[in-house]
Amino acid sequence: MKAADLFDLSGEVALITGASSGLGRNFAKVLAANGAKVVLAARTTRKLEDLKAEIEAEGGEAAVVTLDISDRAQIAPAFEAAETAFGTVTLLINNAGISGALTGMDLTPEEWRELMAVNLDGPWFAAQEASRRMIAANTGGGIINIASVASFRALRTLAAYGASKGAIKQLTANLAVELARHNIRVNAIAPGYILTEINREFFESGAGDHMIKTIPQRRIGDPCDLDGVLLLLASRKAGAFMTGTTVIVDGGQVLGV
Ligand SMILES: NC(=O)c1ccc[n+]([C@@H]2O[C@H](COP(=O)([O-])OP(=O)(O)OC[C@H]3O[C@@H](n4cnc5c(N)ncnc54)[C@H](OP(=O)(O)O)[C@@H]3O)[C@@H](O)[C@H]2O)c1
Repeated sequence: MKAADLFDLSGEVALITGASSGLGRNFAKVLAANGAKVVLAARTTRKLEDLKAEIEAEGGEAAVVTLDISDRAQIAPAFEAAETAFGTVTLLINNAGISGALTGMDLTPEEWRELMAVNLDGPWFAAQEASRRMIAANTGGGIINIASVASFRALRTLAAYGASKGAIKQLTANLAVELARHNIRVNAIAPGYILTEINREFFESGAGDHMIKTIPQRRIGDPCDLDGVLLLLASRKAGAFMTGTTVIVDGGQVLGV
């Protein structure tokens, strides 16, 4: 089969959380460029409207929904709006997330809860809503969660973040088992360090230089380094027999040299 056919996403409706910045912004553009109708979700509507215009100018189709992923009451209305725009969401990219440079000993319960609400509760809420709707409409489809190298390695000062991303990796596996009979594949991408707003200050200030020396490829990633794995997991053809897996894309960082 030709690559263009293998990775063709025509007919898919993809909802991307955290589409206003960084990885989510790029995921939306790649999915739209390969035929999916994309629903852009985040709290900052202005940035989503700009991205929608950009995607449309490139010939894609996009809609915007304002969504705080940590607020369960906003989940169903967001999927309802997506469905009104383009029909049942058949691909969920659970990407919205925050970081927090605090050790497990210094964290307050409030900081812990805030991080878990966005990084773990939110993706679960969205996965539940998306899969219920896919099951009702009998569409099958896919869920792609964004994990991290922190799902595999203890990274200094990232206790809560690491706990949330370890849980995302396991949630991916459990939901994959539950949803396989409904023809819904659930997988995750575990990126290493990719330059985005979440870490720009750390890397552009030089504070991350030592960290880069611990990565076998001696560089941090660019959002487009995830394009290939995104398309592989998103495509019903290319990724047909993949479910429950977390694919690491990290320049070798997880190997721990
Ligand atoms: N960059 C990396 O090195 C790296 C590595 C591994 C994993 N990741 C993961 O990749 C994902 C994206 O990170 P990024 O690097 O692209 O960070 P980013 O540039 O800071 O983007 C984070 C996105 O999440 C959204 N968001 C934050 N809180 C939200 C909430 N309560 N409800 C809805 N949306 C919310 C933000 O939009 P609004 O503020 O507009 O809501 C923004 O679009 C995260 O899950 C992160 O943990 C990143």
